Amino acid sequence: MARVPVVGGNWKMNLARPAARELLSGLRERLGDVDGVEVLVFPPAPWLGDAHDVLDGSRLRVGAQNAYWEQKGAYTGEIGPAMLQGTASHVLVGHSERRIQFGETVWETGRKMGAVCAAGLTPVLAVGEPFSDRRAGRTEDGLRRQLIEALRTVEAMPDGFVVAYEPVWAIGTGEAATPEDAQARCAFLRTLVAERFDAAAGDAVRIQYGGSVNADNAASFFAQPDIDGALVGGASLDADAFTAICRAAAAS
Ligand code: PGA
Repeated sequence: MARVPVVGGNWKMNLARPAARELLSGLRERLGDVDGVEVLVFPPAPWLGDAHDVLDGSRLRVGAQNAYWEQKGAYTGEIGPAMLQGTASHVLVGHSERRIQFGETVWETGRKMGAVCAAGLTPVLAVGEPFSDRRAGRTEDGLRRQLIEALRTVEAMPDGFVVAYEPVWAIGTGEAATPEDAQARCAFLRTLVAERFDAAAGDAVRIQYGGSVNADNAASFFAQPDIDGALVGGASLDADAFTAICRAAAAS
């Protein structure tokens, strides 16, 4: 099955509003009518409305970096997925910075997945092993646990579901995984999705690689059969670099 590649730009906690709007306009100019790749932009929460306004009518989609597992209520500082309806189409769930720096457990990630799907938004589920798991040969056990627990609350494969394989040791370090290593992990994740739902789901799910992807190395990942795009951190803050990555995905 031909899967349309998907590239996400995770801005993390970067850019003041004027710079954010400038980057959004720059992306619209360069990628507004892009073909052959789905492009998602994940700005910081306060700029989601700006992203929606600036990108409205283009082919670029807006995603939130995080959301809570309740839709509304007395949860100071949190964002209910339903509140994102009309502004964002996607929500990033389980990014390793949430898991490691904010102590988000696999149980919490599972609750968030359920809430995001219930709100009719598309989850981009990030999973990935820390270096200690890799060294100990426990990568696949860890990935299996993260994926299965995250999907615990999800009955059917979410429409447009995206999984991002992001080894923790490759994020923000400039030390990307090798394309062959990333391919092996992405192929493994695809078999897990097929086991959890069915073969058609395994075939349809888009699996991104993330971790120090840049304009120079992106194409080598996209050439792999089970890698359907990238989740990009640092390089997504540069309109030209991010555009080059999106174009490489479209050409793959
Ligand atoms: P990086 O981040 O591209 O800066 O390594 C990737 C991510 O955290 O999604």
